[in-house]
Amino acid sequence: MLQQEPIPSQIADMSDAEAHAYVRRLKAELGDDTIILGHHYQRDEVIEHADYTGDSLKLARIARDSKAKNIIFCGVHFMAETADILTGGERFVSLPDLGAGCDMADMAEARDVTDSWREATRAGASDIIPVTYINSSAALKAFVGKHGGVICTSSNAKAVITWALSKGKHVFFFPDQHLGRNIAKGLGFDPTKDMLLWDPKKPLGGHSTDVIHSRKIWLWKGHCPVHALFTVHQVKKIRETSPETKILVHPECAMEIVDVSDLSGSTDYIIKTVEASSPGSKWAIGTEKHLVERLAAQHPDKTITSLNPFTCLCGTMNRISLRNLAWVLDGLKAGRKFNQIRVTKDIAQDSMAALDRMFALS
Ligand code: 13P
Ligand code: SF4
Repeated sequence: MLQQEPIPSQIADMSDAEAHAYVRRLKAELGDDTIILGHHYQRDEVIEHADYTGDSLKLARIARDSKAKNIIFCGVHFMAETADILTGGERFVSLPDLGAGCDMADMAEARDVTDSWREATRAGASDIIPVTYINSSAALKAFVGKHGGVICTSSNAKAVITWALSKGKHVFFFPDQHLGRNIAKGLGFDPTKDMLLWDPKKPLGGHSTDVIHSRKIWLWKGHCPVHALFTVHQVKKIRETSPETKILVHPECAMEIVDVSDLSGSTDYIIKTVEASSPGSKWAIGTEKHLVERLAAQHPDKTITSLNPFTCLCGTMNRISLRNLAWVLDGLKAGRKFNQIRVTKDIAQDSMAALDRMFALS
């Protein structure tokens, strides 16, 4: 992991009020040249200062279309990498804490994907369209771009996977087995007969050559540890105790949970669904804690709880604090570029091919 300088004590020791005031002052001084993007899972203290909030697709579009010289990405590493790729490496993209990775993205190393691909083709498989969830390294995005594939987010996965299925004999989906399975099932494919789970630790993903050839959709064995904390038992409990409560989950939850929920969609979809609901409505939401708690605070006329009563925190999203943000802005004001995220030119070029295909389908 890249090394990060410690936050100086004059910022680290500020009270919350001082840190908020300092961020406001720095933002005013830096002007339109600097924008702050905040993913919906960020802490409230960070979201308060975001110029734009959104899901992965919305934030990627904003980064791509913005004219700002500096993009402070309050999210996780793959989002900042994507912003650097989409801006042609010509802006300063900063991730205010370099430890803010994505555990799911780390489950598909480009090296392992390359090995698995080689094995599959050696076994005679051809016409494979690789699709990666945007929650992946730039190296994996580049692999996918180089092999004629495409990137998706949770909000465009249906259109992207539909396209990929029409183009190839097989679709190899990375790294989130659940998103891939949920979407493909929604498109009418059978999880047992049409799909397989590819375990990169096993030869040929753990399957015979015949099975590889006969299944249309290959799902990489990756998942989101945060969304793994939602269970069918929790859904059953809510159905028993509060049958009027609607259950709304992110598609990174396992198929068994999505199947028994009322609705499923990206973080933006979750927000819009709650906003459009009637006063007095009740929601149990299966996604990250910061978003659920913010929705509950913003909609006091509705009952909004987490599907998991102990709530689910994304520890890496949570690493970005108000003081990290203050530190990066303070550095910019002093002409110092802290925590820059850069993608090499060749990786960016190959990734861009896959990102372009995604935007054309979204
Ligand atoms: P969204 O694109 O729905 O915001 O999802 C991003 C993410 O990482 C969810 O875990
Ligand atoms: Fe990654 Fe899961 Fe955190 Fe989203 S919630 S950033 S998928 S670990």
